[in-house]
Amino acid sequence: MASIIAISNQKGGVGKTTTTANLGAALFHLGKKVLLVDMDPQANLSSALGLTELPTTTVAESLLDRKVPLPIVTIMERLDARLALVPSSLALASAEAALMNKLGRELRLRDQLAMVSGAFDFVLIDTPPSLGLLTINALVAADRVVIPTEARLFSLQGLQMMQESIEEVLYLNPKLQVVGVVLSKLDRRLKEEKLVSSYLRERWGAKVFQTEVGTNSKILEAASSGTSVFNYAGAEKAAEIYLALAKEVLDRG
Ligand SMILES: Nc1ncnc2c1ncn2[C@@H]1O[C@H](COP(=O)(O)OP(=O)(O)OP(=O)(O)O)[C@@H](O)[C@H]1O
Ligand SMILES: [Mg+2]
Repeated sequence: MASIIAISNQKGGVGKTTTTANLGAALFHLGKKVLLVDMDPQANLSSALGLTELPTTTVAESLLDRKVPLPIVTIMERLDARLALVPSSLALASAEAALMNKLGRELRLRDQLAMVSGAFDFVLIDTPPSLGLLTINALVAADRVVIPTEARLFSLQGLQMMQESIEEVLYLNPKLQVVGVVLSKLDRRLKEEKLVSSYLRERWGAKVFQTEVGTNSKILEAASSGTSVFNYAGAEKAAEIYLALAKEVLDRG
């Protein structure tokens, strides 16, 4: 059975999409079958993985109509490993509004994933920077959550809100657990980031991943070129960091 992980933080721009894409690619490189689900109408994950043409069907149609299976696009494949994507597009924004009037609106992604997750070891769900119905769908579908965060004072507020949301979602998904918090854009040259990252390690203890992703222009460039750090020249160091993060995720079951 696949391990389903939502990558979530309602704070914007903290590295959710970057973590989803590169952690997914790292798990692929470790020989896993990985499905990435883009639950953000911004569709940043879809473009970060090189999906340039607007897909004909996206996750939106499958959320609105239970009879439409999730569209799955293969990004990379080898003998034993696979990296695949359920794409999104701006249409997901209106789908979220339409979903409000549907029965079982919070359970739609969970039930759709149940049909396909058997073919994968991991499902990683990228979520939008809000606590709307799309994020709720992701948190209800997931077994576990990875919370990417910056090491800024305002980030602490985001983490607190995230914790409260997870407690709310436990009502519909009692098995939901936090795998860990990842410092996904850390700039150790800044005093504030040094202070906040040590505070985080005190406050969240072992929940904070040992692996820290520093700010690195290659990470940004790879995403803008529509690929992971594993396929981008000069990003070898970043690739090693995401491999270390993936190993920690594997160690945490
Ligand atoms: N470690 C890093 N070093 C440099 N740039 C990074 C790093 N991580 C993320 N970025 C860049 O920061 C920006 C925000 O990252 P990303 O899109 O992953 O955040 P997000 O949380 O998904 O944002 P949103 O809330 O809008 O969905 C992107 O331009 C991304 O390329
Ligand atoms: Mg994003």
